[in-house]
Amino acid sequence: MELRSRRLLLRPLTLDDVSEQYVAWLNDPRVNRYLETRYEGQTLDTVRAFVKAQSAAENSVLFGIFLRENERHIGNIKLGPVMDHQPVADVSLFIGDVDCWGRGYATEALGQVVEYAFRERGLIKLSAGAYAANEASVAAFKKVGFQVECVQRRHYLLEGKPSDVVLMGLCCDDPRSTA
Ligand SMILES: CC(C)(COP(=O)(O)OP(=O)(O)OC[C@H]1O[C@@H](n2cnc3c(N)ncnc32)[C@H](O)[C@@H]1OP(=O)(O)O)[C@@H](O)C(=O)NCCC(=O)NCCS
Repeated sequence: MELRSRRLLLRPLTLDDVSEQYVAWLNDPRVNRYLETRYEGQTLDTVRAFVKAQSAAENSVLFGIFLRENERHIGNIKLGPVMDHQPVADVSLFIGDVDCWGRGYATEALGQVVEYAFRERGLIKLSAGAYAANEASVAAFKKVGFQVECVQRRHYLLEGKPSDVVLMGLCCDDPRSTA
């Protein structure tokens, strides 16, 4: 299964995609600042175990995000878990290569996964969460059509301070913009 957009190729990650560079992204404070994985140092073994578990999971798909021009791996986007008994799933992502930030790749990848989720998987709704301070993440989700549904006030600690968390949702019949 592959999803192609103008500049990106998305395909399920395999163990062959687990590289030192991928591990380094997860340990980079610029990348993991808003990720819950920031509390544990990542190694080749922990990332391999994660990818293996995701490959076996029936209720989620972990896509690698690759540049079409050179097949360079630049990040990941996950659809899932899909809820038991409800056609509703979470979406989460990161662009690990910070040189690739701000070029619209997150928005483009989200657009592809949203279409896949609604058209191919028959889901009725997608949800996503982000620290309010993570403006780029909130902006990317909003750009493809997600709407803010609630703000959980001072919900989690971020750099030691209670911080708001924004919960967003996209229904299958909402207007959306895909790259
Ligand atoms: C959040 C993240 C996925 C955004 O990826 P990206 O490819 O840089 O995002 P895009 O280029 O598609 O930008 C989306 C929007 O965010 C805006 N944006 C980008 N960086 C921003 C920043 N630092 N502050 C505010 N807005 C920003 C962009 O301007 C764009 O909106 P626009 O096109 O209207 O200008 C990326 O920064 C990342 O992986 N961060 C680390 C991991 C993470 O936080 N993941 C999300 C967890 S919820």
